[in-house]
Amino acid sequence: MTTTAVRRLQLDVLPDVASIGRAVAGRIADLVAERPEAVVGVATGATFESVYAALAFEAAERELDLGGVRWFALDEYVGLPAGHPQSYRSVLDRQLVAPLGLDPAAVHVPDVLGEDLETAALEYEAAIAASGGVDLQLLGIGANGHLAFNEPGTPFCSRTHMATLTVSTRAANERFFEIGELVPDHALTQGLATIRAARALELVAIGTAKAPALHRALDGPYDPRCPASLVQRHPAVRVTTDAAAAALLDG
Ligand code: GLP
Repeated sequence: MTTTAVRRLQLDVLPDVASIGRAVAGRIADLVAERPEAVVGVATGATFESVYAALAFEAAERELDLGGVRWFALDEYVGLPAGHPQSYRSVLDRQLVAPLGLDPAAVHVPDVLGEDLETAALEYEAAIAASGGVDLQLLGIGANGHLAFNEPGTPFCSRTHMATLTVSTRAANERFFEIGELVPDHALTQGLATIRAARALELVAIGTAKAPALHRALDGPYDPRCPASLVQRHPAVRVTTDAAAAALLDG
């Protein structure tokens, strides 16, 4: 493992997906052991599958009580029918709620099923605030530098809002959907200011496809054209990656 702290953030380059999953899951478990009522911000996507699998294992090994933990998803597709297997509510039910034996009510996901999504966005912000705020926010990164569904150009001051997905993001997520099925073009997403308000950020990037975005996020300018560059101005960031995603990073 290589650990670099030359940047203000901590960067860990680990050998493979399994070790990344174990490392990140270990940090979530440590947080919960120390603070049983922790608030954890959860991301969906392929990147976190190994993390949630490792967390289930770790929680069982350490006999962790997860009953007091509150979980908040980053985002949810708009326009999928309730219960669609690729809605992020369903994904989290499969990857987090079931293996960890959580109360589904402890896992909050933006409510996109009503008609008034502006109110739903405000309510989501209010629910996060009422929880006391996120202690640890898990973040993947889009190949275009997006965070949650904040696409390039989204202001750093944004709060939870309805976002329009870019063509490249929809294409990247096609792999999760049935052939011929349309990837939604909108989502309700935490904004960049919402994400930045978390007390600690854990950014995970795996694979060659993420290398250019990770390089721009960490080494490029702090610029909303690369939403993930917000990590440059957060006081507690850890980046966990493999050699492929880290390949283009400076020094
Ligand atoms: C998705 C999600 C993000 C996720 C990112 C990377 O569209 N909205 O929260 O982090 O894109 O996804 P993956 O981990 O599948 O590469």
